[in-house]
Amino acid sequence: MCGIVGFSGKNDAIGPVLKGLTRLEYRGYDSAGICLQVSDELTILKKEGKITELTQLVNQEKPTSSIAIGHTRWATHGAVNTENAHPHGNEHFAVVHNGIIENANELKKNLTDYKFQSQTDSEVFLAQLTTEFKKSKDTLKAISSAFQKIKGNSAFVIMERGSKKLYGVKRAAPLVCGLDQSSGDVYLSSDPFALVGFAPKLYFPEDNTIVEANPLPKAELKFYNLELKQVDQYLIQDNLISAESTSKGNFEHYMIKEIHEQPYLINSLADYYANGAFEKLTQFAQENFSFMHIIGCGTAWHAGLLIKSYFEKIAGVRSNIEIASEFRYREPLLTSDEISLFISQSGETADTLACQELCKKQKVKTTSIVNVEGSTLFREADQNFLIKAGVEIGVASTKAFTLQVLTGYLMSLAKAGMLDQEKVKHEFAQLSDTIQEICNRAQEIAQVAEKIYQQKGFIFTGRGRYAPIALEGALKLKEIAYVHAEGYPSGELKHGPIALIDEAIVNIAILGPELFEKSLSNMEEVKARRGEVFGIGPSDDESWMESCDHSFSLDFSRLGNLSPLAVNCVLQLLSYYIAKFKGTDIDKPRNLAKSVTVE
Ligand code: M6R
Repeated sequence: MCGIVGFSGKNDAIGPVLKGLTRLEYRGYDSAGICLQVSDELTILKKEGKITELTQLVNQEKPTSSIAIGHTRWATHGAVNTENAHPHGNEHFAVVHNGIIENANELKKNLTDYKFQSQTDSEVFLAQLTTEFKKSKDTLKAISSAFQKIKGNSAFVIMERGSKKLYGVKRAAPLVCGLDQSSGDVYLSSDPFALVGFAPKLYFPEDNTIVEANPLPKAELKFYNLELKQVDQYLIQDNLISAESTSKGNFEHYMIKEIHEQPYLINSLADYYANGAFEKLTQFAQENFSFMHIIGCGTAWHAGLLIKSYFEKIAGVRSNIEIASEFRYREPLLTSDEISLFISQSGETADTLACQELCKKQKVKTTSIVNVEGSTLFREADQNFLIKAGVEIGVASTKAFTLQVLTGYLMSLAKAGMLDQEKVKHEFAQLSDTIQEICNRAQEIAQVAEKIYQQKGFIFTGRGRYAPIALEGALKLKEIAYVHAEGYPSGELKHGPIALIDEAIVNIAILGPELFEKSLSNMEEVKARRGEVFGIGPSDDESWMESCDHSFSLDFSRLGNLSPLAVNCVLQLLSYYIAKFKGTDIDKPRNLAKSVTVE
């Protein structure tokens, strides 16, 4: 989704803003722009396309400015073109926006004197802000009253002609402020990742807070509520992400780097929970609740499917797994003796946050499994379980899924009173070793990918705990290879999808130990209808391979409850190599955004 970076300081603002925007490329975008203050005039440079094209434009103009706001746009209102790119500006202000103004058309009807230059909802805020400013001649007042008139989730960063101050305001959309006391520089962004190496201290304002960022000589951040009373409604955090951890290293793509990080991260998650955060799990184990609502979107929802099965089988906990965009609108019956568990890598997914708000209103305790510390989900939850995945840059989630599932698994063990630190370490080490072995065998998977990548469609199947893996495998493939892929519980094939099978369809069949014979029969039914079959099955008896066109064996017995995650790694690599053969943009697939901050 849209990315925002703002800087004001003593020196060049263009470098940090363009660098920050480049870091946010992973979130997905279709155009980019920057606003500078050149000789006290607001100067906007923007372009449809990639940041490299914006950079070329900036280099042609050779401007200098010590204040700038930049934006990467992911179109919601209005076509993808240069006019609709942000910033939007006029003789008073320039604004960048992340979110959706739900009543933009309604507001526009009363802004008849304003000359709009784009079709965006964002420019409606600029028009409203300018109209309010003409009335009050007070910037903070104008921001507050314009912001109170708009509906929906939004964050804005604002620059004012002739001023060195940056302003920000937000409601249910991410906004982070940075301050470097030593240099006197101030920053505003939609993502802390943009500020790595720039701002050592981060401030996360609460909703309906206006930020006024003053660079040197004051070097301060002031926070106001919408009544313009100064408040301290923010969370302060050290910026602990290292610039090094965000590079691709020797890997061609972030996705493959992140797949290879899994063995290390699995062991360090075991250390984190078995040592430091063990207390958290034991506290959770003492929670009394009658029912658990597990909620997430996309890959996080798939992680939730597995986590539900762990809670059910290991801890005997009754639960539901819910897609956030459905849960929020279906008026679920909630009672205060229940608990909710939100799963999210970013902690900023709009639908997931809306469900969290809903649960809070109904007095249902909120728990999260989250990667980004300081995110909105993290700040609003009663209790958080971090997955410690580091920054995940590839749009297709890989390592976050694995660590979400493992974190949920630990929570279920805790709830069952079965948490044994040594056992956990051993079990996680076995998984880590297996995933390392799979990574070492990546060429085998690449060879299969080369044989099947031109096929028309892909159906992933699995039973029991492997059914969520089938769904996740299909999602990964369609996301990055742009091919039609579906995931099904194997037993469902006969109820419809088998009609699709012919020689142009590949069935990626997971033959896990649960209901092995039945999964094998389902795969053979596909083979009998001339479908091409890639089986992933056990290494102790490899007779199943005779029924496959391609196969990959795994030692399931060594992994117990965690074997679905090993299979998932095979599927992550398969998607990666199919996408590579297809030549798609693996880390930034078309139309997708890393964190979906609008519904
Ligand atoms: O940040 P979140 O985990 O809340 O994101 C949820 C989904 O948008 C995300 O998992 C999405 O499905 C990924 N692109 C999957 O690879």
